[in-house]
Amino acid sequence: MAQKAPDLMSTIVSLCKRRGFIFQSSEIYGGLNSCWDYGPLGVELKRNVKEAWWRSMVTNRRDIVGLDAAILMHPKVWEASGHLAGFTDPLVDCKSCKERFRADHLENLVKCPKCGGQLTEVRKFNLMFKTFMGPVDDQSSIVYMRPETAQGIFVNFLNVQQAARLKPPFGIAQIGKSFRNEITPGNFTYRTREFEQMEMEFFCMPDTDAQWYDYWRTARLDWYLHHGIRKDNLRLREHAPDELAHYAKACCDVEYLFPFGWSELEGIANRTDFDLKRHSESSGKSLAYFDEETKQRMFPYVIEPAAGADRATLAFLIDAYDVDKEDPQRVIMRFHPSLAPIKAAVLPLVKKEGMPEKAEKIYKDLLDNSVRAAFDVSSAIGRRYARQDEAGTPYCITVDGQTMTDDTVTVRDRDSREQYRIAAAACVEVITKKMKDARS
Ligand code: GAP
Repeated sequence: MAQKAPDLMSTIVSLCKRRGFIFQSSEIYGGLNSCWDYGPLGVELKRNVKEAWWRSMVTNRRDIVGLDAAILMHPKVWEASGHLAGFTDPLVDCKSCKERFRADHLENLVKCPKCGGQLTEVRKFNLMFKTFMGPVDDQSSIVYMRPETAQGIFVNFLNVQQAARLKPPFGIAQIGKSFRNEITPGNFTYRTREFEQMEMEFFCMPDTDAQWYDYWRTARLDWYLHHGIRKDNLRLREHAPDELAHYAKACCDVEYLFPFGWSELEGIANRTDFDLKRHSESSGKSLAYFDEETKQRMFPYVIEPAAGADRATLAFLIDAYDVDKEDPQRVIMRFHPSLAPIKAAVLPLVKKEGMPEKAEKIYKDLLDNSVRAAFDVSSAIGRRYARQDEAGTPYCITVDGQTMTDDTVTVRDRDSREQYRIAAAACVEVITKKMKDARS
């Protein structure tokens, strides 16, 4: 990557718009600050990120189950979790230009960094979005848009444990939207007010917490590496004691080297028994686990790997970005095959001699077998390869003159540029196998 960091970010933003990965929300109305819409390629990429996470956290494991809790929860949940009192950022306003800043991001708390005007006193700003439930807009009908998915898991701990007959150590995983009224959103989709989280709460015996904390730190770092993030762009950063959240005994961040510097991708925290105890006290219903064998009640400890689907998607986009060494105008998105929005593109060499019909059959076969594929018949073959490289499609299947005589097609590999022939009838099998191999 020869580009300077800030340029790279604007290149990614414009590529995302041009190719349909990500658009500004409500763009025709001038856009809505910090809100983004995923286009045809982006929605596939983000779904693949979430599916890869779900596979590794739930589908492929015997000790973790899934949950999909409501976004709106009883307001007392947020009182007990500490979010009502403590989920705040220190805020200052400029009295002249009215710009808002996070006080902890400023070196000078007197002068506005933008216009030099005078700043207000620091005040606490709660990041939870409020809304009203039902027809009356009064204090008693206030509900909050969840700022994390985790609390839906904690309040359902016993429901899930009993329904699925689980015994610690076990985990409950959830993917869903969360909302935070961030004071300074920015850096494209990195910090937004509406985002998706991929969180898993792993319930273990209190004396095994350190061991599980280590296990999840390594497992989560490996997940990003396995899905193609370059080792040099990834690191684990342990939190200093004064950085720890009110509920955490230990915490570390998986950080990615974004063009704007090392920043958090995911947090892994040892939340102890804080949440289960707080909800038990607050609701008056014990969430303690009853061990049938020892006949004892106890509160498990919790290790929480908490990732952001949008942040992970952004990191995968940035890390995949590459340009052709011989032709720097040519962009190649080197997505891991499991994450690539389109797995294979079917390209008839020319629009005649039966090639489009033959290609159409292969294309249909791929779709019928749930392989996300594309079909492109317009312009020269080189241009079509370039378009697929820019979308990050790992394989192109070309139907050419030889296909019409021996029923074989050319497969072109995005990264090696290698080309080889396979039987047209084997396309589904070959691409499906490549996808399976990439996953393991
Ligand atoms: N349950 C713990 C928790 O929510 P967090 O570190 O505040 O921890 C977890 O959030 C992850 O959610 C972050 O590492 C990040 O990937 C994502 N995330 C948090 N705030 C975000 C925001 N404003 N925009 C995009 N992603 C966000």
